[in-house]
Amino acid sequence: MKGIILAGGANTRLFPLTLAVSKQMLPVYDKPMIYYPLSLLMLAGIREIVVVSTPRDTPRFQELLGDGRSLGLTLHYRVQERPAGIAQAFLVAADLIQDEPCTLVLGDNILFGHGLSQVLQAAAARRGGATVFGYEVEDPERYGVVEMDAAGRALSIEEKPARPKSNMAVIGLYMYDRHVLEVARTLTPSARGELEITDLNNRYLSRGALTVERLGRGHVWLDAGTFESLQEASELVRSIQHRQGWHIACIEEIAHRMGLIDAAALAGLAEPLVNNEYGRYLMDIATGKRVRA
Ligand code: G1P
Repeated sequence: MKGIILAGGANTRLFPLTLAVSKQMLPVYDKPMIYYPLSLLMLAGIREIVVVSTPRDTPRFQELLGDGRSLGLTLHYRVQERPAGIAQAFLVAADLIQDEPCTLVLGDNILFGHGLSQVLQAAAARRGGATVFGYEVEDPERYGVVEMDAAGRALSIEEKPARPKSNMAVIGLYMYDRHVLEVARTLTPSARGELEITDLNNRYLSRGALTVERLGRGHVWLDAGTFESLQEASELVRSIQHRQGWHIACIEEIAHRMGLIDAAALAGLAEPLVNNEYGRYLMDIATGKRVRA
């Protein structure tokens, strides 16, 4: 299974914040936004990941994350010349995806909660078809919305419907089988000129090959695409980290916990950061001073 992080777009909704800086590079409390979606792919067990971004921002992501080796990952970068829809990410990264299963995560989606890695790994292990994740929200009209029958089977998915058929938003994390590139190639631009991820999901749905995994109240899903939601995400991460002492989406810690890097390598990553709490946190884990209860 390969992974794609889509970190493109002009992000005009966040101007002037994003006039010169990529949205996915903005801070969500103590770390760049892209750490959050990256942590989801890592927790799902994915080791080879493509970051898709704009001509302006791709070099910055490369500078931040490098080739991934220090985290036990293989990272690639591909440039999306012009934003033309989420599903275009598969075409931009086609040479790396080929006919392999692939998980796509949007660079502004933040998801955490108890037992999340098991949920993600179970979904990633599913053979054939596609898996999307549903999450109940108060404002479904802002998202892709899935309607389900009593047995939890998807009946329809609509992109930002004026009259949503349910409160179940489709979050920006999508898992596909090895046919995804082939299916993505059959898409045509929507009325707004984009290759819609919802159209891709509907292709799988019409073949009876779409699973909707519902995420319950024990999980928190946020997008960080507006001033309000960006601030809300920072506040939430700060509160939880402060209260529990454990960090959310700390990619260095996750790499260590998942056995991708040993304690010495983790200490090496912590070393340049020990002037602050983030680095000390990593160092405490590396030296065994901070042990999970
Ligand atoms: C995109 C998708 C939408 C999905 C959302 C999740 O919308 O088109 O289906 O629910 O991401 O964050 P966007 O936020 O790009 O408008």
